[in-house]
Amino acid sequence: MDRLKVKVPAFGKLNLSLLVLHKRTDGFHELRTVFQTIALHDSLAIEFARARRTRIELESNVEIPGVNLVTRAAESVLAELGISASVRFALTKRIPMGGGLAGGSTDAAAVLLALPVLAGKPIPFARLQEMAAQLGSDVPIFLKGGAAVALGRGEELYALPDAAAVPVLLACSGIHVSTPEAFRALNRGAAELTSPNDPNRIKRFQLLVEALVCPDSAGSWMALCENDFEGAVFPQVPRLDTLRHSLIGHGARLARMSGSGSTMFGVFSGENARDRAMARLTKQQPNVQWVPTAFISRHEYRRVWRRALASARKQLRVSSEEFGWIV
Ligand code: C5P
Repeated sequence: MDRLKVKVPAFGKLNLSLLVLHKRTDGFHELRTVFQTIALHDSLAIEFARARRTRIELESNVEIPGVNLVTRAAESVLAELGISASVRFALTKRIPMGGGLAGGSTDAAAVLLALPVLAGKPIPFARLQEMAAQLGSDVPIFLKGGAAVALGRGEELYALPDAAAVPVLLACSGIHVSTPEAFRALNRGAAELTSPNDPNRIKRFQLLVEALVCPDSAGSWMALCENDFEGAVFPQVPRLDTLRHSLIGHGARLARMSGSGSTMFGVFSGENARDRAMARLTKQQPNVQWVPTAFISRHEYRRVWRRALASARKQLRVSSEEFGWIV
């Protein structure tokens, strides 16, 4: 059979708000977070052909340290489908690595979404979600796209209504924050997280979700966003707090860290305001990479994905009855 070739997008995410609760018996922390996918994306070119023996190759425009999630995701899909194949990946990374934008996780999710289509064999969505959660806490959101509330360690997702393409400016300083270390740093203040000093934490989160669910809340949700990691990471890396103030000082209506950092994001009222801020900040702080992007809605996320897989879908005649939204 001919090799099938597709090029798929792997979008990044922001945590609009992120509360870290207690450490669970499985070693993970219980989270309450709001994910929002963004237009900034890596691109993954995939060549696929059934073969007698499995061979997975990956090339990338940047060196990826540690275990590669793309390869692991491909292995798990082939094992689940019980097939062997020759798979070649060419990854173009644009999402900064180790930056709290889930760059590695979204690449893995892209493999989970695309490979079953290329193999012409569906994996039930519930099973795909389990496989995603096994690969990492931030992987499952990318099987859905758009905005979602996440519970558990980030894998229990409840879709939120689609947001507009809200303009965003990212401040990528290149500072590395290790996620496990950020969780450990939080642990030192574990008492504070469950402290009676702030009994309204969860209530604020519920209000935030309510504001996001209710479309006429018009921006009121922004004041309710927080990120617990800021309290643990900013004292160690004060530069990140300075970047937050820079974003606010240049007109961002909301500026926060995403995930455990180190990317800071600013949310703007319009593209002009965002672009003006970017021009000034690039001049003032040229060592920081200022990246313009925007929220990408679930509708748009899925539209772009379907377009990317259209040729393979036609060739293989796969149906949405079997594959769900992806085709
Ligand atoms: O799931 P993921 O591989 O992204 O997690 C990386 C590390 O972050 C975990 O090994 C754990 O130390 C920490 N983590 C956590 N609680 C979560 C998610 C991640 O403690 N909910």
